[in-house]
Amino acid sequence: MKSEDKLILRALAGETLPTPPAWMMRQAGRYLPEYKATRAEAGDFLSLCYNPDLATEVTLQPIRRFGFDAAILFADILLVPQALGAKLWFATGEGPRLSTIQNMDDFGKLGPADDIHETLSPIYQTVRNLRESLPAETALIGFAGAPWTVATYMIAGRGTPDQGPAHALMASDVATFDALMDRITEATILYLSAQIEAGAEVVKLFDSWAGSLKGDAFAKYALAPAKRIISALKARHPNIPVIAFPREAGDNYIGFAKATGADCVALDNSVSAEWAAENVQVDGCVQGNLAPHHMVSGGQALVDETRRIVDTFRKGPYIFNLGHGITPDGDPKNVELMLKTIRA
Ligand code: CP3
Repeated sequence: MKSEDKLILRALAGETLPTPPAWMMRQAGRYLPEYKATRAEAGDFLSLCYNPDLATEVTLQPIRRFGFDAAILFADILLVPQALGAKLWFATGEGPRLSTIQNMDDFGKLGPADDIHETLSPIYQTVRNLRESLPAETALIGFAGAPWTVATYMIAGRGTPDQGPAHALMASDVATFDALMDRITEATILYLSAQIEAGAEVVKLFDSWAGSLKGDAFAKYALAPAKRIISALKARHPNIPVIAFPREAGDNYIGFAKATGADCVALDNSVSAEWAAENVQVDGCVQGNLAPHHMVSGGQALVDETRRIVDTFRKGPYIFNLGHGITPDGDPKNVELMLKTIRA
């Protein structure tokens, strides 16, 4: 099957389909026993990301089990900071840790954007493997973190509830903050271009912490970098569709696709489907937005909510997804029930 005939590519091109294509954020992950087994074989999370054979295997696991319409490359948004020279490790049970960027001296220790490929070449090999092994109808999604979200981790050295350290650096030393945003933006363009050259058919930009940017800061640090990345990618690869996920953007979802050139806006579950159909889907394809807790609780509430969301977005181009990643306590049986409901 040609790329453009795959269901997700058709939705991204603006087609309204009778049954929406579906995939799930974090579809390869700890809720699957086969993932835990492969991760144990790899030893730790980063070794899994950098092992093309094992990363290919975990990417394929949810496709074999559930038959999603797309596979997402198995990797992490924090590999880009590592490739720029930041130290990165995952403290078991605590999430990511990185060396911090607090001033121009720290920034000066980072490498140039062009140097990232040496570290990231195993990821491109995973992409090539996947294009060879995925079923003909399954689209391959590549991804990167958006500059603001990646910067929040690089500045704080960890995940933070309110992105306080990044907001503080923006206020106290905007030169360092802007230099860091620029470096991440350049690296992201090169990283996503290399994924596309290796065979990614769609790319997604994860701005998980976009919701903490307000007013002018949203325009400057969420919209502008997304626009710069998307125009650079489309200049090199005119047909590549881009999904943007400015998570918890609220009213800032309105006009996001037009302002950035994204082909699809992914919605989190803090906005209602009705509101999003009226205010966001009017501009093109949307993706979302079932609350991930339904993958834990299941039952009739899962069926009702899935039907309601599918019905609400049925009149325009649409891709089914959760509003954020499935959690490790999600039940694979509920994923099956969700897919059965979408495809009924
Ligand atoms: O969606 C997929 O299946 C593709 C792979 C993928 C991972 N991370 C694998 C992963 C993707 C697209 C990501 C993106 C990512 N990584 C984001 C943006 C999306 C979001 O969730 O908001 C962010 C913020 C990160 C950074 C990150 N990576 C954190 C904060 C954590 C720890 C949290 C946790 O769940 O433990 C990770 C680790 C991580 N990335 C895991 C997986 C499967 C769990 C690691 C493990 O196996 O222990």
